[in-house]
Amino acid sequence: MSITINGSPATLPDDPRVSLLDFLREQLGLSGTKKGCDQGACGACTVLVDGERILSCLALAVQYEGRQVTTIEGLADGNRMHALQLAFIEHDGFQCGYCTPGQICSAIGMAAEAKRGVPSHVSADLNADVSLTREELQERMSGNLCRCGAHNGIINAINETMAAEVAA
Ligand code: FES
Ligand code: FES
Repeated sequence: MSITINGSPATLPDDPRVSLLDFLREQLGLSGTKKGCDQGACGACTVLVDGERILSCLALAVQYEGRQVTTIEGLADGNRMHALQLAFIEHDGFQCGYCTPGQICSAIGMAAEAKRGVPSHVSADLNADVSLTREELQERMSGNLCRCGAHNGIINAINETMAAEVAA
């Protein structure tokens, strides 16, 4: 059984109880994806599967046979960081950095949802094109907690990059 992680094939664990998070961190050594609560409450473990954001602590690795997983380690283009990674630096979008990989993967998945027209709890018109206002960004990123309180910088970084991309 295989899975693709950041463009490279990997062999899934024999034990079907292994979470995708533990598979990434403990078996593949991809420690960028963080374990915060391990119960779906903090967003630190967010990764992208075929471009959609998921909580890897709530996922079993074997569920994702044949799928493409992208973690924070897979976002840079060689030595060039993803635009959102650069924006996090520019806007002070982190302090300890523990929530950052999840925030960044989540924001990329969030932008893809917005492009598909997926409404949020604060969208006034469920059928209108999504405009990523600050309120929309805050709502759509509310599953990713930052215990350092860097949320303003996080939203500023996402606003400058992903929201601008959706609006283009
Ligand atoms: S570690 Fe997965 S949501 Fe907190
Ligand atoms: S930067 Fe420390 S938890 Fe977000």
